[in-house]
Amino acid sequence: MKKVIRISVIISLLIGCINVNAQQAKKISDNLFGVFFEDISYSADGGLYAELLQNRSFEYTANDKRGWNPLTAWEYTNNGFGYGTVSVETALPVSINNRHYIELNVEEEGREGVGLMNIGYDGIAVKAGDKYDFSCFIRQISNKSIPIKVFLQSKKGEILGESTFNTRSDKWEKYTAVITATQGSDSAQFVILAKEKGRLALDVISLFPQNTFKNRVNGLRADLATSIANLHPKFMRFPGGCLVHGDGLGNMYRWKNTIGPIEDRVEQRNIWNYHQTAGLGYFEYFQFCEDMGAQPLPILPAAVSCQNSGGTWRIGGTGQRALPMDEMPAYIQDVFDLIEYANGSPSTVWGAKRAAAGHPETFNLKYIGVGNEDKMTPEFKERFKMIYEAVKKTHPEVTVVGTVGPAPSGEDYDKGWELANQLSVPIVDEHYYEKPNWFLTNTHRYDNYDRSRSKVYIGEYASQGNTLFNALCEAVYMTSIERNGDVVQMASYAPLLARVGNTSWTPDLIFFTNSKVVPSANYYVQQLFSSNQGDVYYPNVLSISDRQDSTVGLSCVKDSKTGDLILKIANVGATSKMVKADLKKLGISKSTIAQKQLLVGQPKEQNTLTDAQRLIPTYSEMSISSDFMYETPAYSLTVIRIKPKK
Ligand code: AHR
Repeated sequence: MKKVIRISVIISLLIGCINVNAQQAKKISDNLFGVFFEDISYSADGGLYAELLQNRSFEYTANDKRGWNPLTAWEYTNNGFGYGTVSVETALPVSINNRHYIELNVEEEGREGVGLMNIGYDGIAVKAGDKYDFSCFIRQISNKSIPIKVFLQSKKGEILGESTFNTRSDKWEKYTAVITATQGSDSAQFVILAKEKGRLALDVISLFPQNTFKNRVNGLRADLATSIANLHPKFMRFPGGCLVHGDGLGNMYRWKNTIGPIEDRVEQRNIWNYHQTAGLGYFEYFQFCEDMGAQPLPILPAAVSCQNSGGTWRIGGTGQRALPMDEMPAYIQDVFDLIEYANGSPSTVWGAKRAAAGHPETFNLKYIGVGNEDKMTPEFKERFKMIYEAVKKTHPEVTVVGTVGPAPSGEDYDKGWELANQLSVPIVDEHYYEKPNWFLTNTHRYDNYDRSRSKVYIGEYASQGNTLFNALCEAVYMTSIERNGDVVQMASYAPLLARVGNTSWTPDLIFFTNSKVVPSANYYVQQLFSSNQGDVYYPNVLSISDRQDSTVGLSCVKDSKTGDLILKIANVGATSKMVKADLKKLGISKSTIAQKQLLVGQPKEQNTLTDAQRLIPTYSEMSISSDFMYETPAYSLTVIRIKPKK
């Protein structure tokens, strides 16, 4: 009895001035809606990572993608009738982690010099007046200084901005220059020319816009990062997905390979059939989380590779492989080291590396995920248990998120939950990519979950399409996530980004080209929910006459920080519906002006490159009384935000 009284006192405090029956209000996760970033569909290299040059370190190989080689995306150039040779070398690299570099031998410089041209990712987008940071490692081989010209050009060869410098060393040295674009272009090319006879080694040829998100060096594409930040995610899961456990043991994502100077990061094949420079690595992920005010949620492999390892064109798929047991202590140490990298003081070994990267303050890591929808083999279970128990013992301040397979039911799901129950894993990661109708018929999925078991993180979900209908089915489902926000602690749509023309997976939340960003209808649903999160859920404030109508989703939450009451009304039906809002139940007696956001359209509509703003929420104000009826339009999501007046 005492306990019940204490709980209702706490809830009353939580709900502040709102005078609702405390038994009915429910505390829900204040970390509910976030994002999941994976380098899939060119999301990182060629996407969020603002590097403009493709294959900057000459590390592409046919293993990344059939037909690729160290000169992919590069072309020999000698416009002014000079001549020379370009060869790929490995004998004296800048870093042993990335062995390939170029030797450029200018035999006759001609009018303009001889060099290399990079085509970027389907061209390079430049804006007139913007500044671009060039950098490159160069080693003189012919023991003489050589003048270098770097520039951006249009496809027709017009110069769009340039810079020059002279080489100065027989050792590898980093050169930098700034190119100011005199004209804009969507399809520029970058050229580096040696203007005199001689021999040079070149590596890590890089070009970044200075205008990155928050102006970070080695930063993120401002428009894409802004569109993610505008979701106001409470957390960000990274770096995958299947990318994490990798295509075979040698392809597992090892976080230590992704920090430090970019020339030393270990590049590797991307499981989605391209190449990862790791330029967007753990430091950049943590920094992006901090810049967005999102909790970082890194996912580490559970020391096993993806069960689907071995693609169709590679001979001999291996399936899931496990790290040998004698490597597990070192592997677990890597996990501890990550925690130290994020949370340790600069006087610790790994905290010092974070500080050296420019961030002496900690990153306040509270969660790590172990495993990604792995096959529940004995090898997986044994290793998961070892990692989980080690982290729990040594770092009780960090919550481990487990995994329960790739689907909302089935063998791995059942076995995953069995393991979670056995080990009392605090949170498990459920994934579901299902038809829209599944989302409508499964809104009661968590209503009867055993509240004493592990909590749930819905780490990946999507309704297999980007039409408004898909988005609204997700919206209806998301109202049920809020209703069950005491069980479901976090949820993130997947995948987040997709480069048009390079998509490995559909649907996606945000589509992009070099110069355009197209948020889908699903994006706006996510945004309406994640920008309007609450921490207390009130049942029975909203209602419709037909309680069985599965095409309508209703939710009422309060954000304790602002005191705002937030109503969400999703209607994926073909007719409008009358929704009753009974705010009197919350002790609200006065009329007020509320803010309303409405996403509405036809079910088959979607945003496209040519019609990017077709579906976008509109904002208006509405006056409401303490007991009002709202006519929710067909195919719509409405969010009503109220500052309650006593
Ligand atoms: O989100 C795309 C992929 O779907 C993820 O990499 C994987 O975890 C899931 O199968």
